[in-house]
Amino acid sequence: MRICIVGAGYVGLTTAAALADFGHEVLCVDMEESKINCLRQGKVPIYEPGLDELITKNVKNNKLFFSSLVEESIKEYPVILIAVGTPSKDDGSSNLMFVHRVIDVIASTTNVYKIIITKSTVPPGTNEWIHKRLIEKGIDEDLFDVVSNPEFLREGFALRDLYHPNKIVFGTKTSRPIKNLKKLYYRGKAPYIFTSLTGAELIKYASNAFLATKISFANEMARICDAYEVDYDDIAKGIGTDPRIGRYFLNSGLGFGGSCLPKDLSSLKHSAVKKNVETKLLDAVREVNDTQIDLYLNKLTTELPDLTGKRITIWGVTFKPDTDDLRSSPAVMMIKKLLEKGCQVHAYDPMVQLELSGVYSHTNQYESVKNSDALIISTEWQQFLETDWAEVKSRMKGTIVLDARNCLDGKLVRKFGFLYLRIG
Ligand code: UGA
Repeated sequence: MRICIVGAGYVGLTTAAALADFGHEVLCVDMEESKINCLRQGKVPIYEPGLDELITKNVKNNKLFFSSLVEESIKEYPVILIAVGTPSKDDGSSNLMFVHRVIDVIASTTNVYKIIITKSTVPPGTNEWIHKRLIEKGIDEDLFDVVSNPEFLREGFALRDLYHPNKIVFGTKTSRPIKNLKKLYYRGKAPYIFTSLTGAELIKYASNAFLATKISFANEMARICDAYEVDYDDIAKGIGTDPRIGRYFLNSGLGFGGSCLPKDLSSLKHSAVKKNVETKLLDAVREVNDTQIDLYLNKLTTELPDLTGKRITIWGVTFKPDTDDLRSSPAVMMIKKLLEKGCQVHAYDPMVQLELSGVYSHTNQYESVKNSDALIISTEWQQFLETDWAEVKSRMKGTIVLDARNCLDGKLVRKFGFLYLRIG
């Protein structure tokens, strides 16, 4: 198939590389000319394991192309896959400005049949709106099919998720595009889930909201475990073996961040309230998450009551390991709170040099702890799990290690003379 992907952001780029690798001819377009120029020179603007190589391979094989000529490209290709951003507005709803722009270009250029696939995460009702909008703009219903095809890939595992999906969801209005849609992805053993346009949109929101719910549940349980001096990991293991519950997404810590879970939770709430549906559970999920950072800071101040002027080192600034993404990173929020309290903050991350006023960013993990009063682990990078604790001990001034991702072996850390703190 000949596919034009609109948007060379995280989802657009990874999907473009994988679809090209599955054998399609893929043109990835973005109005940001500098980004396209970089991609044409072989420079990939995001870090995702394996993505550089996959892009290089498929560009070389003449399967993957890049362009900043959005209108011309949309006009020429029979399949348009929309992967533009849908950021949050101040009221929590999704800003659909970029989606609307693409639809207007499609409306002004379509004169032969096209399949229009929305991969961007959009609120319930958006794809119905797209269908209506195209008709209003004078495009005959015979000339297009709108398809809602949400993505479920995780940053850091995007290619693995694209090659081994656990489901492929298509929302359609009619069965007409289904034959072609089945040729799109490598399916493996994944089931197809066919539903309505709005059904597919809601599967996406329900999926992220449920993951967020699991995390907040884990964090609330960890609070209870902490009060009873029980190791929360035992609880996660104990309940996780029940296949009805499952062990995934039960890790407690600083809470969920990133560009998806917090944004999608807000947008889903907004969509519910618009239809007069109360969201008590979603609100509680958000509330638990919003208080995790203060909870860990309180833990720290039980041992270090006055944080003013204290030298604190933070390991991990991204919102999770194996990414360079800082969007809604709980680690960065934690750093900002420490700065407000007058701390001298030193940071180390294996992938990112944090540029934030008042923060000393280091390129060496062990250099970063020199003379520190406390060390906080805020992202569970593999490198931190393999730390040489004797080396850390010899460099630090204080002895506090706050494990804000509950990822270290506490017994081991204590053996080196540290005061190891965690919640649960
Ligand atoms: C999430 C979903 O997992 C994907 O399925 C979805 O496609 C994507 O959003 C999206 O909507 O585009 P992602 O944002 O890459 O993927 O990150 P996750 O792996 O879901 O992690 C989100 C946050 O939850 C991170 O801050 C992570 O540290 C935290 N988390 C995750 C926990 O605190 N505990 C856990 O057990 C798991």
